[in-house]
Amino acid sequence: MSFYQNKTAFITGGSTGIGLAVAKALAKEGSNVVIFARTINKLESAVNEIKAVQKNKSQKVYYYSVDTSDNNDVKTVFEKAILENGIPDILINCVGIAQPDYFENITFESFDKLIKTNLYSTWNSVYNILPHMKRKGGYIMNTSSVAGFIGVFGYTDYCMTKFGIIGFSDALRQELKRYNISVSVLCPPDTDTPGLEAENITKPAETKAIAGNAKLLQPEFVANAVLKGIQKNKKMIIPGFDGKMSLILKRFLPGLVDFIMNLSIKKVQQK
Ligand SMILES: NC(=O)c1ccc[n+]([C@@H]2O[C@H](COP(=O)([O-])OP(=O)(O)OC[C@H]3O[C@@H](n4cnc5c(N)ncnc54)[C@H](OP(=O)(O)O)[C@@H]3O)[C@@H](O)[C@H]2O)c1
Repeated sequence: MSFYQNKTAFITGGSTGIGLAVAKALAKEGSNVVIFARTINKLESAVNEIKAVQKNKSQKVYYYSVDTSDNNDVKTVFEKAILENGIPDILINCVGIAQPDYFENITFESFDKLIKTNLYSTWNSVYNILPHMKRKGGYIMNTSSVAGFIGVFGYTDYCMTKFGIIGFSDALRQELKRYNISVSVLCPPDTDTPGLEAENITKPAETKAIAGNAKLLQPEFVANAVLKGIQKNKKMIIPGFDGKMSLILKRFLPGLVDFIMNLSIKKVQQK
């Protein structure tokens, strides 16, 4: 029997992109899947996609609309979802946005929204699941990025949040061990999702040049790495060779990483 068979997973940001791919991968393995996001029509079509691939018809697939950056909203909606679906075995936090730009072009309003979406959402979700999950143990996965351990041109505000999510997950993993809850953090490189498509609109030329150094992943590939990583209780899940290599180089040859990035930036700026 699959490790994921009959488990219940709550997935925030599960209506598109990486969150949806993880939801589908879990449903294929026999999990009950509950997804959370704001936009109802996207949630509805995601539920149809998930149902189309689920292992058997008796699995539950539901959605709830919630703004995860709002703690009260998360509390109310999670309580309802737990009442209707039980305490989840797995919590996947996938909500996140990025609007790359030169630092001086980022308005305070845009910064504020990004901090609330990326950091508050992760905090609120863990905060409101924990009183329930600590009664039976489970798995929590937060989503950072390769830009959570390497600063990337054009992503000052985003890096601030994604570096933060790695620190948060690291500390949380130590704290929740006593409740038999494992904490992992996902650090994907660029992945072909609606989120990335939106990012590409505002990316400075230098950021595009840096992104060109790494292979674009498909969300299904990332989801596969997530399922394997959670099952192995991995602290950090980095899908693909390029992402893993980036971490090794950043740790052991940080000067080389700076050199490669500066070379890409310089080429664009000299044009
Ligand atoms: N794609 C990449 O290249 C990449 C690389 C590294 C890391 N990541 C990270 O991976 C995660 C998923 O990225 P993605 O590209 O798959 O994103 P995506 O396709 O844009 O999906 C984002 C999901 O989050 C939901 N969401 C956004 N704001 C929300 C809010 N305030 N409350 C509730 N739900 C909200 C969206 O639905 P609604 O808008 O309807 O609410 C959607 O379901 C993010 O944390 C991102 O930073 C992505």
